[in-house]
Amino acid sequence: MSPFLRARPRRNRKSEVVRSFHRETHLGPEHFIYPLFLHEEGDAAIPIASMPGCMRHTLDSLQAEVEAARGVGVNAVVLFPKVPDERKTPGAEECYDDSALIPRAIRRLKEKWPDLCVVTDVALDPYSSMGHDGLVAEDGRILNDETVEVLCKQALSQARAGADIIAPSDMMDGRVAAIRDALDGDGFTEVSILSYTAKYASAFYGPFRDALDSAPRGGDKKTYQMDPANSREALREVEADEAEGADMLMVKPAGPYLDVIRLVREATTLPVAAYQVSGEYAMLKAASERGWLDEKRVALEALTAIRRAGADVILSYYARQVGEWLA
Ligand code: PBG
Repeated sequence: MSPFLRARPRRNRKSEVVRSFHRETHLGPEHFIYPLFLHEEGDAAIPIASMPGCMRHTLDSLQAEVEAARGVGVNAVVLFPKVPDERKTPGAEECYDDSALIPRAIRRLKEKWPDLCVVTDVALDPYSSMGHDGLVAEDGRILNDETVEVLCKQALSQARAGADIIAPSDMMDGRVAAIRDALDGDGFTEVSILSYTAKYASAFYGPFRDALDSAPRGGDKKTYQMDPANSREALREVEADEAEGADMLMVKPAGPYLDVIRLVREATTLPVAAYQVSGEYAMLKAASERGWLDEKRVALEALTAIRRAGADVILSYYARQVGEWLA
């Protein structure tokens, strides 16, 4: 008798019941934050061509979408605004205007559903005529410390409107500490910070930039977002964000960066988030539309892999659909 055959790993896969005994990773609607786009150019929701199934919402259609998502157990959203070109400025002033689209959307959602978890993105790009996350100097440099001051104003405006979690995606140095101090200084000690800790200079953000018309008007984001070739640098960002008082850490993109998710998971005791970004979504959608992939199975597999790598929570355009699939 071959000793090799005493151990037959297949016995533990022989039926769904047995497989369920030792399944290590679970995926449910409670593991999602649902990213949603907003606009205010007319009163109809506008489909986003490169992200089938996603819309630029009006406040009304946003409310309907959130209601549908809550109906299938997704109770957290993150909001992104499409700002009309003529209101974008070099100083991105609209990002801290309390009467702008995002604060209005937050107030409306929180009024209707106080238990909804509203996450907001902190970065200047949708509001900047340069399309950069930070302020741009004459010579094209991205100004770190000057930008952080604006980010603090933006975070405070979002907190005043009722945001539960502030998510800085700008990758400026020192912004987590500065935002924490600004929030605490104004009494928002219960508002959390979900830091985009390891955010890469990725080509997978393409469809998102289409959706918001927010692509950089000059240069690229490589002096602030991380080099896709690196992972040790992510640990340095983890250390900084922890020391600066972040409550949760994020890796972005997710699917092509599972090793980084695992690394961050092992380096911190804080909750870890991962962002399955627009390009990851667009790839799955496009191949499924052509009949080349089985969308439900492939999306659930990709998302399960992100959880298996170590993400507690996933930002995904699939959030509502996952809720429907798993209902
Ligand atoms: C802006 C921001 C981006 C994304 C989230 N916040 C784009 C960028 O950094 O250029 C990308 C999300 C996605 O692709 O789904 N700071």
